[in-house]
Amino acid sequence: MAAKRILLGITGGIAAYKSAELVRLLKKAGLEVRVVMTRGAEAFVTPLTFQALSGEPVRTSLLDPEAEAGMGHIELAKWADQVVVAPASADFLARLAQGMADDLLTTVCCATEAPIAVAPAMNQAMWKNFRTQRNMSLLAEDPQITVWGPDQGEQACGDTGPGRMLEPDALASWILADATRATVGALAGKRVVITAGPTREPIDPVRYISNHSSGKMGYALARAAADAGAQVVLVSGPVNLPVPDGVAVRPVMTAQDMLQEAERVVAEGCDIFIATAAVADYRPAACAGDKIKKTDEAMTLSLVRNPDTLATIAARKNPPFTVGFAAETTDVARYANDKMQRKKLNMIVANDVSVPGLGFNSDQNAVTVFWPSGEQAIGPDSKQAIADTLVALIAEHSNKVGNS
Ligand code: CTP
Repeated sequence: MAAKRILLGITGGIAAYKSAELVRLLKKAGLEVRVVMTRGAEAFVTPLTFQALSGEPVRTSLLDPEAEAGMGHIELAKWADQVVVAPASADFLARLAQGMADDLLTTVCCATEAPIAVAPAMNQAMWKNFRTQRNMSLLAEDPQITVWGPDQGEQACGDTGPGRMLEPDALASWILADATRATVGALAGKRVVITAGPTREPIDPVRYISNHSSGKMGYALARAAADAGAQVVLVSGPVNLPVPDGVAVRPVMTAQDMLQEAERVVAEGCDIFIATAAVADYRPAACAGDKIKKTDEAMTLSLVRNPDTLATIAARKNPPFTVGFAAETTDVARYANDKMQRKKLNMIVANDVSVPGLGFNSDQNAVTVFWPSGEQAIGPDSKQAIADTLVALIAEHSNKVGNS
């Protein structure tokens, strides 16, 4: 189920005024938002502001018979797909950590089974305070709760340090990334193999040919596919990224290793194969046994073509649903479609690498996905949000192919 219904809790802090922008961004993205304010929040902003922005009555009190007759607090707790408390004051976090239910917001947090995200906002000394930190350690152990922030910087009181609430656009992008992770269960029971990262082609024992691929897109897809219920294996070149929960990694170094490992993993069973790796097209014809010493002014390195992992997997007798990536700078649609046909793929994800700030080594990307009878543009957005949408699309199309 997608997190489309957001219950936004607002507690007492000057950052409460920023939550108005957060509601606006979430509504603009098509989410349903209901707001619960604490008494402290009402001292900074009015319920009317949030009623106007959310288009829904704002709840402020647990013991309000009229409001309870509309949507009772338990119904409200069940209604939410995701609870977000922003700003979350030191006092609220303390009460949440203790499991208290002494006002509407803490009661809803106790009653809901939805994930709860909190965005702390307070003075830097209050944030660093031993008791606040002890409460944060308790919250960190709570599987239902995620902590977003806080940010560092200048504070309303004039202090500088940690404790600022994350900006509304950052919070909105986290919430939207969760909301588009609409794919829970969409790949249940499927085995997904993903290649990711660069390869390294050794020249001698200390040097190699490689590229700037960070592996972020492949790792984001692995996380999205695992969230969608798939059993995921990442065949990964050398990257500097944490492995997503529940994902198995088979580390490889060269293009030849990547092919060998991918074939081995696919032979163990694979429904969907996604190739995000930036494989070196060529490797040195020979790797010197000892470090090459400089002698002449110039040197020539002889290179030979590497095997194509994706094309090899797509050419198997009973191939999995295959998805390739294509980095293009011009004529994106034509080159991507050509590549899809040439490599006999079911789908290809093209990104225009000529756009500054997107793609390689960036957290942001924008892609166009092509399949034989259609196409869809996704982004610009975070790589995780793009991965979530891609997984939804891959699940939909691989099911069609599987059922035909
Ligand atoms: N690929 C692969 N093994 C290779 C080369 C590429 O698995 N040896 C996969 C990549 O992971 C990607 C797709 O094939 O999914 C990219 O195809 P490629 O033909 O290499 O395209 P580009 O890298 O875009 O380069 P060019 O158009 O210059 O060939």
